[in-house]
Amino acid sequence: MTASPTEPTRRLAAVPDLDPAPNPHATQEEVEAALKDTKLAQVLYHDWEAETYDDKWHISYDERCIDYARGRFDAVAGEQDLPYERALELGCGTGFFLLNLMQGGVAKRGSVTDLSPGMVKVALRNADHLGLEVDGRVADAETIPYADNTFDLVVGHAVLHHIPDVEQALRECLRVLKPGGRFVFAGEPTTVGNFYARWLGRITWESVTRVTKLPFLADWRRPQEELDESSRAAALEAVVDLHTFEPTQLEEIAVAAGAVEAKAVTEEFASALLGWPLRTVEYAVPREKLGWGWAQFGLQSWKKLTWVDENVLRHVVPRRFFYNALITGVKP
Ligand SMILES: C[S@@+](CC[C@H](N)C(=O)[O-])C[C@H]1O[C@@H](n2cnc3c(N)ncnc32)[C@H](O)[C@@H]1O
Repeated sequence: MTASPTEPTRRLAAVPDLDPAPNPHATQEEVEAALKDTKLAQVLYHDWEAETYDDKWHISYDERCIDYARGRFDAVAGEQDLPYERALELGCGTGFFLLNLMQGGVAKRGSVTDLSPGMVKVALRNADHLGLEVDGRVADAETIPYADNTFDLVVGHAVLHHIPDVEQALRECLRVLKPGGRFVFAGEPTTVGNFYARWLGRITWESVTRVTKLPFLADWRRPQEELDESSRAAALEAVVDLHTFEPTQLEEIAVAAGAVEAKAVTEEFASALLGWPLRTVEYAVPREKLGWGWAQFGLQSWKKLTWVDENVLRHVVPRRFFYNALITGVKP
């Protein structure tokens, strides 16, 4: 829901003054320092990509992503009494998970937090455009700046694998949750899944960037400076991606942090084997070259393979072979 020109202007929720400002243009010295400092790398990398992040990852706030977010929540949390009154998101990025969960009826009020000020700014702007009741803070998941027993639900998507001390972050989640409150994290790479995803990505990238060196395929090659920038981003990515998980290990970490009812589930096997090469091709060639037909092919094939994963492979392939891990737990 976007504001129409005739509506009175609502005050845009802003990152509080006490929080640091976004820094989208890191200096060379900062980048070099970040190669040895994972949290600085997180801030630089995510401040740099915050304004283009939704576009890059095809993130939207419509039915497609609402269904996806709600589907991940239901897959691990099961049937719950919804909506939760107040929810917190850690490592919110542009707000993909919590804002879509709120639109999907999971929570009424939200607080978005991220280590990157640029991401919090974009998440608050997105929430404002959607007319959702959301506030935000720049925050490290290992030291959450909210009082004990504040939230009914804590969520995160693709964030735990970036946090140095995952158990400490889950302990913090439990501290800010009210007794009986639940945390739900989705989109974490399994150890086996990450292994084949990296290899498939690497092989696809090498093949596409080599083949498009052929003169008659020159139109399919992205400008060299863009390819170099992708390689530099990949170098920083190696500094920010800290963990992969075994599902059993995730459950053990949750229990060690103090959670009860800890449960991990995994998703995407055949769909990941297709998805990673497709995504890498999209990244390696100019955007305008792959039109609507390609997008439809990708989406439809992914949906079919997801069906195969859920209805066939889930029963025969061990859970640690699937790419995505989700974990939930409850505060006693
Ligand atoms: C891969 S992005 C995912 C963003 C978003 N959740 C999504 O799914 O689109 C990871 C996010 O976690 C944030 N992050 C990394 N380490 C963090 C930490 N220690 N505390 C809070 N946020 C962190 C990054 O700044 C980044 O925005």
